[in-house]
Amino acid sequence: MKGNIIQHNYKIRISDRRNALDQNSFLIWFTGLSGSGKSTIANLVEQKLFKMGVKTYILDGDNIRKGINKDLTFTPKDRTENIRRIAEVANLMIDAGLVVLAAFISPYKKDREAIKSIVKDINFVEIFINTSIEECERRDVKGLYKKARSGEIKNMTGISAPYEVPENPDIQINTEGESIEEAVQKIVEYIKPKLKLKDE
Ligand code: ADX
Repeated sequence: MKGNIIQHNYKIRISDRRNALDQNSFLIWFTGLSGSGKSTIANLVEQKLFKMGVKTYILDGDNIRKGINKDLTFTPKDRTENIRRIAEVANLMIDAGLVVLAAFISPYKKDREAIKSIVKDINFVEIFINTSIEECERRDVKGLYKKARSGEIKNMTGISAPYEVPENPDIQINTEGESIEEAVQKIVEYIKPKLKLKDE
């Protein structure tokens, strides 16, 4: 029997895929409170990159939680599992040669650290969308903060669950102090040099 097990030795490697696409591949991670502007900014950054010819894919809390992660709640344990799965999916996409954008609250420092060990430090860009809880609650785009205040929603980040602020993000965006256009431009300028393939 043993002799019948043939080890798969895949010949096409990450470097082959990156070369074929003529781009580097990595993960751009947006963290911040619900309603902070993560998805809006990620969306605009993706559009800019797309126009530049970059092959991208976007993963977003609200749609991932309707599909692959629909079995998960907002308890600390489930949030950890949510982020772990997304990091693994992102890792496959990096391997496929894509620039992945991910917008998740990801409130726990240890979960965000774990992403780095899954995708490797070098493939990880952390962007903190720093919008205050007061402003997110004032905007309350989805009406969730109101529900959290009335007790209809439990474990609401910023109200009844913690958000651990990133200490050393690669980029920090203050949506109350700078325009969305400025924020998007700042991110794209930071990303540009990383897109180029290094000679291996
Ligand atoms: S995370 O904490 O596990 O990273 P994720 O980004 O996937 O969260 O999902 C957040 C989205 O779920 C929010 O934008 C919001 O629309 C919705 N949501 C529903 N319940 C909650 C809650 N208790 N806390 C935060 N977000 C919630």
